[in-house]
Amino acid sequence: MKTKILVTGGTGYIGSHTVVELQQAGYDVVIIDNLSNSNAAVVDGIEAITGIRPAFVEGDCTDLDTLRTLFREHPGIKGIINFAASKAVGESVQKPLLYYRNNLVTLINLLTLMPEFDVKGVVFSSSCTVYGEPDRNPIDETAPIKPATSPYGNTKQISEEIIRDYVASGAPIKSILLRYFNPVGAHPSALIGELPLGVPQNLVPYLTQAAAGIRPELTVFGDDYNTPDGSCIRDYIDVVDLAKAHVIAMERMLDGKDTEPVEVFNLGTGRGLSVLELISAFERATGVKVPHKIGPRRAGDIEKIWADPKRANEVLGWKAEADIEDTMRNAWAWQQHVTKH
Ligand code: WQD
Repeated sequence: MKTKILVTGGTGYIGSHTVVELQQAGYDVVIIDNLSNSNAAVVDGIEAITGIRPAFVEGDCTDLDTLRTLFREHPGIKGIINFAASKAVGESVQKPLLYYRNNLVTLINLLTLMPEFDVKGVVFSSSCTVYGEPDRNPIDETAPIKPATSPYGNTKQISEEIIRDYVASGAPIKSILLRYFNPVGAHPSALIGELPLGVPQNLVPYLTQAAAGIRPELTVFGDDYNTPDGSCIRDYIDVVDLAKAHVIAMERMLDGKDTEPVEVFNLGTGRGLSVLELISAFERATGVKVPHKIGPRRAGDIEKIWADPKRANEVLGWKAEADIEDTMRNAWAWQQHVTKH
């Protein structure tokens, strides 16, 4: 009998890649997604890759009855991976209540139902955003949590606190918090990837659209930072490597290998890359030029952040394997797939 896992936001970018890895690790997956930032065709892409069609429920996790019905109709769910959240930093400044309601009520509903349906563990999709602008890099899990610089980042900080308080109250559940750095790339099959609706906010989807001629050119938001080439530095982590970490985290909880009721891991490569270095990596990997120009800084951007992944490597037993040029080739193949369909 396969262990059943609920993936909220499972038709989203990281969610869909995680569903693929869960299925390939032998898990039975149920997806719930309200399709506010993805589309149902992603389920076809997942099935095309794994040969297994995951159960898919179109629904909103902010509605408790919808979720309770799902648990009743899909009995035996043992774990949850919670991706369902709004995640655009800029939009969160414009629409804070949407972000607080969506991201926090979703989590509270899931936590409420876990004991009711004997669900053991929840993997929570957190973010390096909780660290703000680090005092030093690379950054490990002991780094101080700084005041959030956006409602989006604040929802991640508050969510981590909600989980800790709920577990501390004696709730019969456990959790692993995964703090992502910058997820990039696409599945090597080019059948699933990042599907930004409208103008991409994140660097790589904008970069591949510029390379494809969908956007006239990429604007590099500032080259006057205190970094070697003046552009911001980030830790770009391949989305498939990231997805694999979720399976390992879920297995760790279900197999009782976790050593604390709430564990935290930074998920990054440990390598910082500047925006200009990433553009060069893409051009070397694909032979395709990225039309770009230098523009003004973007408000709210931090200058540099990259992970110290030692704890995830040694305790979780996970390591980012992908080479950035392979990742850029996968991103480009996905862009070409999307452009054609
Ligand atoms: C990366 C770098 C930009 C676009 C955010 C969230 C994080 C996570 C990922 C959700 C920065 C530069 C970007 C462009 C550019 N969100 N850039 N031109 O801001 O590091 O992280 O998205 O999970 O929580 O904080 O990612 O891809 O927007 O930017 O020069 O058109 O690329 O200035 O230095 P960011 P990003």
